[in-house]
Amino acid sequence: MVMSACEARLAGHPDRLRWNDRYAAGAAPAFVPHPLAVRALAEVGNLPAGDQYPGPRGLASPDGPVADLACGPSGTALLAAASGRHVTAVDVSEVALDLLAAEARRRGLAHLITLVHTDLSGWRPRPRSFAVVLCTGFWEAAVFPAAAAAVAPGGLLGWEAFTEQARRVRPGLDHRWCLADGEPASLLPPDFTVLDQSDLRGGQRRQMLARRAR
Ligand SMILES: C[S@@+](CC[C@H](N)C(=O)[O-])C[C@H]1O[C@@H](n2cnc3c(N)ncnc32)[C@H](O)[C@@H]1O
Repeated sequence: MVMSACEARLAGHPDRLRWNDRYAAGAAPAFVPHPLAVRALAEVGNLPAGDQYPGPRGLASPDGPVADLACGPSGTALLAAASGRHVTAVDVSEVALDLLAAEARRRGLAHLITLVHTDLSGWRPRPRSFAVVLCTGFWEAAVFPAAAAAVAPGGLLGWEAFTEQARRVRPGLDHRWCLADGEPASLLPPDFTVLDQSDLRGGQRRQMLARRAR
């Protein structure tokens, strides 16, 4: 179990309760890495030997750990760990983290994955400490500055989330969880270069990959 000192503070957290219910009621996770994470790990030349993933390799990227934010039962964290990187996997749902922990143990990767059970809105990683910071399937504007600050010089920031456009077909979707026009690239600090920002699924989702200057 990963429940820890923050258990009491998170006890009634609505995101925790909602996502715990979803994961507890759902089918066994597939642990498929997110395509953006696959691309980012290929960019840093750091996929497991003999892997099946295409992509450019080894573009002068820094050593160091990977952060997987709002990780869920994450295939991304497992892929990064299988490549030899240490991974910090952060989520408000301890059910998700327990699923990830069990799979990491099964694959012999548990020693490479640090599970952090917290609300990302209060998560303050050490600045410039991660070679790759990834966040897929989650958006809260207040989380972005700390995530960008955590990217090491030469490192990558990858993000994927719903856009405002998605609210047309999902009226219940809270606008705070949706990217506005131009985001997240428009919110990057000036020392980042956008490698790609593109809309997916008819404009309902957007992904961005950016590199911090050395
Ligand atoms: C759509 S899932 C995405 C999971 C995974 N990143 C992926 O791409 O499949 C959203 C995740 O965000 C987590 N989450 C929601 N609100 C959060 C918060 N305030 N702090 C940390 N994690 C949160 C949920 O527990 C859930 O695992």
